[in-house]
Amino acid sequence: MKLNKAIAVYFSPTGNSRKCALATAGVIGRNIEEIDLTKTVSFNESMKFDINDFIVFSAPVYGGRLFKGFAEKLSNMNGNFAKCIGIVTYGNRDYDDALLEMKNILIDKNFIPLGFGAIVGRHTYGQIQVDRPNNADLENCRVLAKGVLEKIEKGIFSIPDVKGNFPYKDGGNGGSFYPQTEDTCKKCGLCAKSCPQGAISFDDFKTIDTNKCISCFRCIRICPFGSKVMNTKEYIEFADMFSQKLSVPKEDEIFV
Ligand SMILES: Cc1cc2nc3c(=O)[nH]c(=O)nc-3n(C[C@H](O)[C@H](O)[C@H](O)COP(=O)(O)O)c2cc1C
Ligand code: SF4
Ligand code: SF4
Repeated sequence: MKLNKAIAVYFSPTGNSRKCALATAGVIGRNIEEIDLTKTVSFNESMKFDINDFIVFSAPVYGGRLFKGFAEKLSNMNGNFAKCIGIVTYGNRDYDDALLEMKNILIDKNFIPLGFGAIVGRHTYGQIQVDRPNNADLENCRVLAKGVLEKIEKGIFSIPDVKGNFPYKDGGNGGSFYPQTEDTCKKCGLCAKSCPQGAISFDDFKTIDTNKCISCFRCIRICPFGSKVMNTKEYIEFADMFSQKLSVPKEDEIFV
């Protein structure tokens, strides 16, 4: 079966899910089309998939569920029975029901998911697995893609079982750590332009709308001057405790 092109569709505030999507899609095609849902409000209805496209979906686990905003952004999507892979990235705690949710959403949107991955990435909070996804994790993404290609060559189109329970646990929301801005801020506006929630005021880059902010820490990672920080006592104590608790590395899991 001839595949048209590889498309990586991801929501990825701190980049782990994007890295995994690109490593996976890279096995399927050299020219990867990227659909970055991190900044755009929702999937553009006019974009159609072809049955011979191959799509890799990737998004983070928030509270043991797929981040809610990702599912919402896919609400207009119709897969036209294109084959795909679903990946969740998680911060070394657990992915709980997120991969099952990814699977169910993809089937509901008329995709045929032939493989899944739960890949460990640096946790947003604390100092947990800070170098991941590392080469070994990205190699696992490639193994997943190769496994799916083999299935297609053999004419096997079965959708694999994944771990997880339904009804899903509560989750999928953001956190409640709202970054602060140091006086070193040079007012370049990069944080406001990059915030997936439009939570940072363009008039005053120090002001964050806490009703919109999901505590994804994209603004902290992206600020060139290190001026966006999270340094409240409450956060530092939590981050220290959490980093100790999750210090033992977890293994990636793939399902083909
Ligand atoms: C609000 C929030 C909740 C999270 N919940 C979990 C979780 O339940 N389990 C886990 O292992 N990691 C959790 N994480 C960590 C992210 O899943 C992980 O860092 C992910 O790879 C980030 O993806 P990205 O780099 O593509 O944004 C959470 C992160 C945030 C911001
Ligand atoms: S990215 Fe950093 S320097 Fe630029 S406006 Fe935001 S906080 Fe200020
Ligand atoms: S303001 Fe909140 S939602 Fe926006 S990038 Fe920063 S942490 Fe993420």
